Amino acid sequence: MIHAMNGIVIAIDGFSSCGKSTFAKQIAKKLGYLYIDSGAMYRAVTLEFIRRNIISKNKVDETQIPEILSSINIGFHFNPDKKAYETTLNGEVVEEDIRSPKVADKVSLVAAIPLVREKMVEQQQKLGENKSIVMDGRDIGTVVFPNAELKIFMTADPVIRAQRRLKELNAKGISITLDEVLKNIEERDYIDQNREVAPLRKAPDAVVLDNSHMTVDEQMEWVNSLVTERTR
Ligand code: DC
Repeated sequence: MIHAMNGIVIAIDGFSSCGKSTFAKQIAKKLGYLYIDSGAMYRAVTLEFIRRNIISKNKVDETQIPEILSSINIGFHFNPDKKAYETTLNGEVVEEDIRSPKVADKVSLVAAIPLVREKMVEQQQKLGENKSIVMDGRDIGTVVFPNAELKIFMTADPVIRAQRRLKELNAKGISITLDEVLKNIEERDYIDQNREVAPLRKAPDAVVLDNSHMTVDEQMEWVNSLVTERTR
């Protein structure tokens, strides 16, 4: 059990399919902190853009963005049956829809729009006003909470990430090859690191966690002393 004295902000950034959300959720659970999946927020915006039909091919009709952003409400609602938080869009639970391939396919495009990022960062900072929060994403330690008490940058060997992702996809009955998954992971890494706005970067004061050969329990053990030290 981790004993936290003062509520702190824990920022977790890193590559896709690194196990960021599993790790972040575990930490939040142990500490009794709020967990926010910032990627889910970008996914929810993407879902709304798709529903409003403002994306054609790889272009978003930017004239409609301000009105849509001012009218949408993204939240997190606790589902007691699943014992998990679910993302809501204007009050509707959209947890499954935001994980669909049609959203996954467009989310990088939407997450690169400065106006979208501005609005999401503002909401994320509000959520962290009272501290005692774990947030994961790509720019949490660099842009959203540059003063976070603990910043972790997660990474893992791309082949190992592809193997983990393949297992998850196969469990869902999706048939795909390891090579295809690996290619997708490498593409996403490239987009995340090379986009113009808020690219994925390790904050200078972030601690690196390479979990290629670590179990979740080992990762929790690793973070234990850091949390104790930073909450003092
Ligand atoms: O972590 P994820 O796969 O659910 O993220 C979905 C997309 O959102 C991915 O393209 C990266 C982007 N994202 C971002 O740009 N900034 C964040 N803080 C979190 C996610």
